[in-house]
Amino acid sequence: MAHNVTIEQIAAHAGEAVTLHGWVADKTDKGKLQFLRVRDGTGVIQATLFHKSVSPEAFEAAKHVPQESSVIVTGEVRQEPRAPGGYELSVTDFEVVQRARGEFPITPKEHGIEFLMANRHLWLRSSRQHAILRVRATIIQAIRNWLDEQGFLLMDTPILTPAAVEGTTTLFETDFYGDPAYLTQSGQLYNEANAMAFGKVYCFGPTFRAEKSKTRRHLSEFWMVEPEWAFGTLDDYMKVAEQMVSYVVQTVLEKRAAEMEMLERDLAPLKRVVPPFPRISYDDAVKLIQTKGDANFKWGDDFGAPDETLISEQFDRPVFVYKYPTEMKAFYMAPDAERPEVCLSADLLAPEGYGEIIGGGQRSDNLEYLEAQLEKHKLPREPYEWYLDLRKYGSVPHCGFGLGIERTVAWICKLEHVRETIPFPRMLEKIYP
Ligand code: 4AD
Ligand code: MG
Repeated sequence: MAHNVTIEQIAAHAGEAVTLHGWVADKTDKGKLQFLRVRDGTGVIQATLFHKSVSPEAFEAAKHVPQESSVIVTGEVRQEPRAPGGYELSVTDFEVVQRARGEFPITPKEHGIEFLMANRHLWLRSSRQHAILRVRATIIQAIRNWLDEQGFLLMDTPILTPAAVEGTTTLFETDFYGDPAYLTQSGQLYNEANAMAFGKVYCFGPTFRAEKSKTRRHLSEFWMVEPEWAFGTLDDYMKVAEQMVSYVVQTVLEKRAAEMEMLERDLAPLKRVVPPFPRISYDDAVKLIQTKGDANFKWGDDFGAPDETLISEQFDRPVFVYKYPTEMKAFYMAPDAERPEVCLSADLLAPEGYGEIIGGGQRSDNLEYLEAQLEKHKLPREPYEWYLDLRKYGSVPHCGFGLGIERTVAWICKLEHVRETIPFPRMLEKIYP
């Protein structure tokens, strides 16, 4: 009796009869021999049908089966050094579950990105997408494992919210029983309440930004992990973030070697991603840009993509830029006590031109300062009343950060664009499929 296995497990079944459930990725007709490439989601294997080894019906079915038909294949697992993966299946039985209707739109030939995006639901079946999305899953798993082990408690924060976190220009508005509500830009504010209740916490979920420009780094819906903890400073945040990022990268190198090879990723820059990461102040970064890049760059300007690339090129691993101008950053950032024109913020810039992957810092724990900041940022007080309460009942210095999953996947896999880092990306004017 053949038993059901997945292609991933095939090496453990050499010499045995097994049954695979999957789809026909590709086919070569050699007369009395049919070579099928069968995939089952865990891998791809070559299945060989010899006309004398199967029933005439099964042979005919295999001969005419179109690409991406669903099939059940039984056969003997044979070690075959020349086969990709090292094993192949000598088929004894072949059954079609559903014959694909018509030609599968995605063929091994080159397709344009517009076409592939419009067929994202089918494109996901390709080996490159498999590699990327497996790396994504491993990144997420590594982040969760690391945070759980370090004693951060998972706290799920709401998606429907009455107020902005990161400015009002990128809010997605929705209707909440007749009142306006917004899809959350970040779980941070709620996490500050969670941190005052539980000490060390994190949230991990989808976040939303109505980004009105098309770039290779921006999605309208992206996933963010946000650790937050009480009695933490700007320095503490950078130490935690560099440990976490390094753990994630090293875990991918260890567990996803085959995927990285499929993506032809140069591993040398990733192997260097170990603490400590370099740190450069915003002030020094401005001087660097003025001398090596854009002479007209002024203190107080925000970094564009080329500026971020220039900064990160000075270092061999991710770099923190710290103490940005207070004016540039969100209302909640704690001002530097000695120099209130800068705040206790830091961004982590990834190497190889990938730009900011983390934003974070120390939060203001001062009631009066935050009241003034809300006014300055023209934010209504009422929806933030609960947030101000946190500064009334045992306020403490605290910090946290948010790491964007898609940008991290794009960097680690070295992709052109974040659109391939999530199964179904949401971008400016793109909501299908
Ligand atoms: O720098 P941001 O806006 O920081 C926050 O939202 C803080 N409240 C996080 C915190 O301290 N808890 O966003 C954090 C990260 C960015 O560094 C980037 O990686 C990602 O989220 N990000 C985006 N990723 C894809 N598409 C977008 N439109 C993104 N906007 C931010
Ligand atoms: Mg940011």
